[in-house]
Amino acid sequence: MTSKITLTILTLAAQPLMLASSSADEVDFEKDILPVFEERCMSCHRETYKTSTGRTKKPKGDLRMDDPKLISKGEDGDVIVAGKPDESAMYKSITLDPEDDDIMPPKGDPLTKDQIANIKKWIEEGAKTGDWKGTKFNADGDKLDKDGKPIKKAEDK
Ligand code: HEC
Repeated sequence: MTSKITLTILTLAAQPLMLASSSADEVDFEKDILPVFEERCMSCHRETYKTSTGRTKKPKGDLRMDDPKLISKGEDGDVIVAGKPDESAMYKSITLDPEDDDIMPPKGDPLTKDQIANIKKWIEEGAKTGDWKGTKFNADGDKLDKDGKPIKKAEDK
């Protein structure tokens, strides 16, 4: 009897703690955000490179999204305001009307509702990039693994 009551009290006491420490539903940058950025943004927003025909391609809008230290630095200041998606040019740019000339990405379909919701939440949670060290590509736009071998074609739309 006593032990049953003790157990009940312990269980009740533990619940709020479990709720508070639950981080299971935080956005996982490398799983939910990075693949979208790599596939839909980095063809235009990455390190200056030379194409196979010798043309030099610079990051559009001076924004490099392939490097954690530069991902929030646009040509006119920060494009990500941690905690404030509505003040973040990056969030605003993906939520414009699809007919708007400034929508990102400017080519192909707009991001999906889920992708947009994840990016919003990611900015709300502080826009942390975790252990990500940056993403490298070759001149053809293939993503490179850590040994410099091409692993995936970056979508060019
Ligand atoms: C096909 C090329 C292309 C792709 C893909 C692309 N962008 Fe852009 N982006 C541009 C260009 C061009 C500009 C500069 C527009 C200007 O200066 O008027 C720009 C500008 C921006 C800016 C403003 C930069 C600043 O300094 O103010 C943001 C933010 C941005 N893009 C975010 C994104 C995001 C997020 C994605 C992926 C979802 C993306 N872009 C995909 C071409 C692209």
